[in-house]
Amino acid sequence: MGAQAEKWVLMVTARTPTNIAVIKYWGKRDEKLILPINDSISVTLDPNHLCTTTTVSVSPSFVEDRMWLNGKEISLQGGRFQSCLREIRARANDVEDEKRGIKINKEDWQKLHLHIASYNNFPTAAGLASSAAGLACLVFSLAKLMNLKEDNSQLSAIARQGSGSACRSLYGGFVKWIMGKEENGSDSLAVQLADEKHWDELVIIIAVVSARQKETSSTSGMRDTVETSALIQHRAKEVVPKRIIEMENAIQNRDFASFARLACTDSNQFHAVCLDTYPPIFYMNDTSHRIISCVEKWNRAEETPQVAYTFDAGPNAVMIARDRKTAALLLQRLLYNFPPQPDTDLDRYVIGDKSILKDAGIKDMKDVEALVGPPETKGNIVGEKSKGDVSYFICTRPGGGPVVLSDETQALLDPLTGLPK
Ligand code: DP6
Repeated sequence: MGAQAEKWVLMVTARTPTNIAVIKYWGKRDEKLILPINDSISVTLDPNHLCTTTTVSVSPSFVEDRMWLNGKEISLQGGRFQSCLREIRARANDVEDEKRGIKINKEDWQKLHLHIASYNNFPTAAGLASSAAGLACLVFSLAKLMNLKEDNSQLSAIARQGSGSACRSLYGGFVKWIMGKEENGSDSLAVQLADEKHWDELVIIIAVVSARQKETSSTSGMRDTVETSALIQHRAKEVVPKRIIEMENAIQNRDFASFARLACTDSNQFHAVCLDTYPPIFYMNDTSHRIISCVEKWNRAEETPQVAYTFDAGPNAVMIARDRKTAALLLQRLLYNFPPQPDTDLDRYVIGDKSILKDAGIKDMKDVEALVGPPETKGNIVGEKSKGDVSYFICTRPGGGPVVLSDETQALLDPLTGLPK
């Protein structure tokens, strides 16, 4: 480190997507290393609509590691953050910026402190896998800053120690988290099954369902399940291994009927093992159940499944439509059954890829009010139609993996001070 350059701040900004599991991860065999009891498969969501942006920086003037999430300082003391930071520092390499006269030796990384700022382009509280995108982005951007030679799969094994589902956010498209066999977790990592272009007709609509209370966290929920549920063992040993093979084939062959059947039954089984946990865990609510019956009725009325649904550790529904045309029909059904509260701005009720709204022929609230019941319900609404059960919808699609943002204006930290902008 040149003495005259002690004031420098070196930084990297990256963007990382969220993911939604279609074969669920639920249950650990090692709590500390975060090793799962079964493989899982996910679809990466388009980062244009849901992503985390993170700027990481290093400077000899920083006195401690600090982190800001959505502008608010948070503690980095947690064991999971510390595991990720330790694993990355251990793999750091020499970094040189000749133009600016900065040279960091491999060993310097152990003493140098970091400033990290992270921002989600969606509400953290909405329960949309913000920790997955966040931890993946932290690991990815630090790996770039510290010049790690590891590939994304090896990085995923580090992100995994931050949050299990985070390891699947190191790739775009369709991703498998291989549970691995090693006790040290070295073979428990994510691999890409197919990129986002492989099956690009798919459209994803997320219903952000208003939750009344804070749910049990995934971490403690799955711990209780492993300790008390008899069904979880059957699921992990007998059911998931077969479904993983079938799901890989469905993705490879773009076989939507199989994809939908597997995704829906696996989500339902995950919620069944939650119910089998003692005391039982309820993540879905009445609105979630009504969404399921709306989709199930429609799928049954058609020759073949039109839409798949899946729910994580909360009431939000993630629906995957076979193509754009189906997505437009789905959005009509959703808006008919789950209209917004009076005076809601349609522009804020359906966000993300608004072209789906256009395809559905809906320009304003008058068009929503004019919607008629879909044929499969014979004009009956699915359950009680009450306004405001869904907070908003997000239209999106399968998307790409992490990227470095080289445009400095996107950085979240000031390049001179290393503090949030
Ligand atoms: C229901 O990855 O949040 O979303 O590993 O304890 O951090 P930890 O849990 P987390 O669990 C995600 C569970 C899930 C299913 C999934 O994403 O596969």
